Amino acid sequence: MPSESMPKQLWRQVRVFDGLKQLDEEMAVLVAGGRIAGLWPEKDFDDSSVPDAVEAGRGGVMTPGLVDCHTHLVYAGNRAGEFEQRLEGVSYEEIARAGGGIISSVRATRAASEDDLIAASLPRLDALLADGVTTVEIKSGYGLSVESELKMLRVARRLGELRPVRVLTTLLGAHALPPEYAGRADDYISLICEEMIPAAVAGNLADAVDVFCEGIAFSPAQCQRVFEAAKTYGLAIKAHAEQLSNLGGSALAARYGALSADHVEYLDEAGVRAMAEAGTVAVLLPGAFHVLRETQLPPIELLRQYGVPMAVASDANPGTSPICMPTLMANLACTLFRLTPREALAGMTAHGARALGLPELGRIAVGAPADMCLWDIQQPAELAYAVQAGRLRQRVFNGEVTHAC
Ligand code: NIG
Ligand code: FE
Repeated sequence: MPSESMPKQLWRQVRVFDGLKQLDEEMAVLVAGGRIAGLWPEKDFDDSSVPDAVEAGRGGVMTPGLVDCHTHLVYAGNRAGEFEQRLEGVSYEEIARAGGGIISSVRATRAASEDDLIAASLPRLDALLADGVTTVEIKSGYGLSVESELKMLRVARRLGELRPVRVLTTLLGAHALPPEYAGRADDYISLICEEMIPAAVAGNLADAVDVFCEGIAFSPAQCQRVFEAAKTYGLAIKAHAEQLSNLGGSALAARYGALSADHVEYLDEAGVRAMAEAGTVAVLLPGAFHVLRETQLPPIELLRQYGVPMAVASDANPGTSPICMPTLMANLACTLFRLTPREALAGMTAHGARALGLPELGRIAVGAPADMCLWDIQQPAELAYAVQAGRLRQRVFNGEVTHAC
């Protein structure tokens, strides 16, 4: 925790991307008590005004700490075999319908202890941190029973205690139908609404709920029941929607005031309008698009026209996006979805934070929590342009330098 006794820290001559745009001039940035306390154009800055500050860095590009607002970081096993099957022409849906896909990760995750899951997930979390993440959302969804979903959420919470990172947890009980409920999807939804959500809330284990609204997962009517329960229990709402087809899941989620609708490749104009009206963020997941070799692009131009904020996240998971490198996602968002580098970086900072209901994060602004990255590059756009590990010079979490190279 930041304390008043921590020395004030000063970064000099940094090029700042503030979460929405690049500032024109080199800046001086002051951090005190875990927050950004001052931000001045370097040429106007008088360091005798803060005689008690220590210099913490000079030069480079400063961005907000990255916000990875959509991950499935906690799971056991891997699905490299399915990757090979898909390369031979079997589709993601066909693998799922044959009992593989998400359900194969469920089998491995159910069999794993909490310590096994911590051991499996920590290297993935460490990879995110080494690439600048200071806030990460982690979903359950590979347990699909009350006990196993709570186990995953406890592991996610523990990860946030083991590393200097802010972890938000999301209950994704409605990720797939577990085999023991075959032919009884509505009963499984009842389990989620009547037992899983109340238990997660009682244990303070979930910040939000999520659903997979899709032909191979749950119908809009079933998702609506989950949203009703989430509302009753005061949990925020998110949705995997319009990933493989257009079922109207994003518009439905928006009507429930969802923080975000995620994937959205098949989103239509009515869905975009509903999201704009509700202030729902579109979370773009170019890693899943890339790995599944999708061809249907999300409606980027419509999202721009309607002013729907676009976040970008890793979707780190064993099936569709086994990738723990958020800056690669910025690159893919540009090359595959034609976002500008500025949009991609805003998607991984200010808009990512908004997709988690934490709008004060993801900004370099006076008063904001001091979650920041200092990169050894000349211009912010380089983060999206080049795919290269090792450019992070410092990662600052809550005002403390936690990674320094
Ligand atoms: O975001 N679409 C559903 N869920 C994940 C994939 C999960 C998996 O295949 O294990 C996603 O793509
Ligand atoms: Fe996902």
